[in-house]
Amino acid sequence: MIHLHGPHLLIIIRLGSQLVVVASSPAIAMEILKTHDKIFSGRNLPYRCFQIIEMKQSSLTMSSQCNDARKFLRAIGHNFISVSGVVKDGFLEQKKCLKKVINHKVSVRARIFPYDIVVFGDGNRELLIAGTDSTIITIVWLMAELIKNLDIFLRLREEIGQAIKPNSTSLDESILSRCEYFQACINETLRLHIPGPFLVPHQALENCILNNYLIPKDSIVLVNAWAIHLDPNNWEDAASFKPDRFLDSKIDFLGSCFEFIPFSSGRRMCPGFHMGFRNILLVVASLVYYFDWSLPGGEDLRNLDMTDKFCTTLKREKPLYLVPRLRERFHVG
Ligand code: HEM
Ligand SMILES: *[C@@H]1O[C@H](CO)[C@@H](O)[C@H](O)[C@H]1NC(C)=O
Ligand SMILES: *[C@@H]1O[C@H](CO)[C@@H](O)[C@H](O)[C@H]1NC(C)=O
Repeated sequence: MIHLHGPHLLIIIRLGSQLVVVASSPAIAMEILKTHDKIFSGRNLPYRCFQIIEMKQSSLTMSSQCNDARKFLRAIGHNFISVSGVVKDGFLEQKKCLKKVINHKVSVRARIFPYDIVVFGDGNRELLIAGTDSTIITIVWLMAELIKNLDIFLRLREEIGQAIKPNSTSLDESILSRCEYFQACINETLRLHIPGPFLVPHQALENCILNNYLIPKDSIVLVNAWAIHLDPNNWEDAASFKPDRFLDSKIDFLGSCFEFIPFSSGRRMCPGFHMGFRNILLVVASLVYYFDWSLPGGEDLRNLDMTDKFCTTLKREKPLYLVPRLRERFHVG
């Protein structure tokens, strides 16, 4: 049974005894992630994830409620991954934090869900940080867009070149934070190719009225961020890759602009957004600045196929194969 509300902005689906609510407008996303944030902060993940009992206590993404275990994990996550501003030595900082985490005896043997922090292993504990998946998906999409749009690629390379100190031998984050256009390119990639199109499923912890409709306790609640990001009511020329739209715009992904929510918003918002953004910046900066790119067999770059494929994340249907060539000015000797 399916109820459609408004111009399909709120869809309620009954799957057997399970109600699934899908929200596809910024206004309803705001109701869910902000106004009724607490009520909708439950998690509902596939049964298989919960078969591992320890998982519930030691995984942040899967913790079904905001209890103490969850608060602890979120606090670690905060220290570990969302160091704000420019970090002098990011890796050192991360190592220190890692030690803290390892000393705390959280341990789980588990299969890992795409975005998560889970401490696992017995003797030699390791910290596995997922979110790797969404970071990599974003890098691949951004590279694909840059390869397809040579003018954007060259403008980006120019900007990076200008931001590098004369005689400096490496790229570092302090330089990159000055690259506005670069940031706009990443933002635009997160809009047009959002890695988590339905975010991660939420669950209603209590009954709640949403858009005059009663959403019963235990309903699964999905926010269709993909639809919001591509809705012409929210974005002009929504289907095109146009980084310029983010220049001179006040829109950010920090959780208060509900037409742009690649990292979600509210108490379940991705705690890794800072780290994710920085990693994308660093990797792509090197790829763009040091290398020229072509397609295997010298195929025309403009013909690059951009079809995507949805599972829980939105990836390219076909893998991206590119041939790098070190730019001449960086050849040694
Ligand atoms: C481009 C990169 C990334 C994107 C687009 C992304 C996106 C998301 C989204 C949409 C959610 C679900 C929010 C919700 O349920 O409403 C999420 C959750 C989460 N992300 Fe990320 N993420 C990224 C990178 C990372 C990184 C680098 C880390 C860790 C280092 C990370 C750790 C987490 C964790 C632990 C959660 C679960 C939070 C909770 O349930 O309370 N993410 N992420
Ligand atoms: C860069 O290196 C050149 C030659 O090695 C030197 O003359 C110049 O002063 C350096 N510039 C800066 C800003 O350090
Ligand atoms: C990109 O997004 C970040 C985070 O929302 C924001 O701080 C930044 O101003 C945006 N930059 C550009 C140029 O779009």
